[in-house]
Amino acid sequence: MKNIKKIVALTGAGISAESGITTFRDSGGMWEQYDVMEVASIDGWHKNPQLMLRFYNERRKQLGEVEPNDAHRILAELEKDFDVTIVTQNVDNLHERGGSTKIIHLHGELTKARSSKDANMIIDVGYNPIEWGEKAPDGSQLRPHIVWFGEAVPLIAKAAETVSNADILLIIGTSLNVYPAAGLVGYAKRNASIFLIDPNEVAHTGSNITVIREKATTGMVKVKNLIYD
Ligand code: OAD
Repeated sequence: MKNIKKIVALTGAGISAESGITTFRDSGGMWEQYDVMEVASIDGWHKNPQLMLRFYNERRKQLGEVEPNDAHRILAELEKDFDVTIVTQNVDNLHERGGSTKIIHLHGELTKARSSKDANMIIDVGYNPIEWGEKAPDGSQLRPHIVWFGEAVPLIAKAAETVSNADILLIIGTSLNVYPAAGLVGYAKRNASIFLIDPNEVAHTGSNITVIREKATTGMVKVKNLIYD
């Protein structure tokens, strides 16, 4: 009989590291190269929108040049036997391209643009740049469909409910530094099985978390074996 346990994977930049996308807080990470408030905050957008468009245009172009890795693919394969939902902080589309079908993008999506006035007026841009002067249907400047520091996270309630229903919670490649996403772990059921995959030490508060100190790809092979045991 088909096992319909619910798996929720809370993922961060580390799951895409082996695909060639730079993480944020590792040494050599994005926030050593850029000032986070200049390129990823709503204040930064008001101060220098052209700089922010350039930053995300580069990220979007690079996304078109990389591929999902085995960690993304294994998560997708788990859909054969489980009800899997991905709650990701990543703005890349590697979970989709790896084959996952239920994905909550907490921090938005690189391949989409939106009106700078209306958060619900969203258009697909693929891997193309968003130019300064390019307008949304409402006449406002198009901006990346990204949730920036200083902005609310519209999908957080849906994500919290999703996590609260999980039988198995996987935490993969996130430093758990950024709230409210990091707080989602606290919504897990007391009897949920929780696995954390990260090659580095991650500060977490849960006592019943099985830590697998490996990269996402090899860590996911191990977790898959444990889940099917
Ligand atoms: P971080 O860069 O903070 O954390 C990445 C985590 O991935 C770290 O714990 C690394 O140890 C781990 N890691 C590195 N290589 C890995 C690998 N091969 N396999 C598995 N893990 C690996 O990224 P996030 O926690 O995702 O938001 O950051 C959260 C948010 O902060 C992002 O969504 C972004 C950023 O500022 C915005 O820009 C709004």
